[in-house]
Amino acid sequence: MNLLDYLPGVPDFPKPGILFRDISPLLANPNAFKEATLQLEALAQQFDYSHILGIESRGFIFGTALAYQAHKGLALARKPNKLPLASHRESYGLEYGLDSLEIAQSTLPAGARILIVDDVLATGGTIIAASKLLKKAGFDVAGALTLLEIDGLNGSKILSQTGIANKTVLVA
Ligand code: PRP
Ligand code: MG
Repeated sequence: MNLLDYLPGVPDFPKPGILFRDISPLLANPNAFKEATLQLEALAQQFDYSHILGIESRGFIFGTALAYQAHKGLALARKPNKLPLASHRESYGLEYGLDSLEIAQSTLPAGARILIVDDVLATGGTIIAASKLLKKAGFDVAGALTLLEIDGLNGSKILSQTGIANKTVLVA
């Protein structure tokens, strides 16, 4: 099965020049979604981690599936103003705009080593912000795992240069 067949590119969304990857066909096909989860889990085994951080919103889907498959605890990095007891906020630039991530107080036990999970790695800004957020909150970052890296944006290299070990199932 070629998982890319289930991740069609939508040109010029949400802005001209951006190739948006639609994860809906993959989620709608149980074999493709299971295969994606198994491939994420195979790569996750290369990290020494105790918990997963899923990034709102599309990272929640794969973070949750992986947490279930790998039998790991799950924490959530939320978009701003969703959490009553947010302990830290980290703002970042996207390919298309500005955003922030927040993490709840006391979600994770002391000493947790966190694997950051998201659907797509583009510029790396989102994962770098999630990593800063975890470090501010006092946790170790085991690395970052994505389903798809957008080719040509150097996201993997940027993460590595930032000291974030990273793996991706697909590059396209
Ligand atoms: C998309 C995607 C990643 C991020 C990748 O999320 O789901 O989280 O962009 O881009 P980057 O590597 O350049 O930071 P988006 O912020 O569009 O929101 P969503 O997950 O809520 O759809
Ligand atoms: Mg996202």
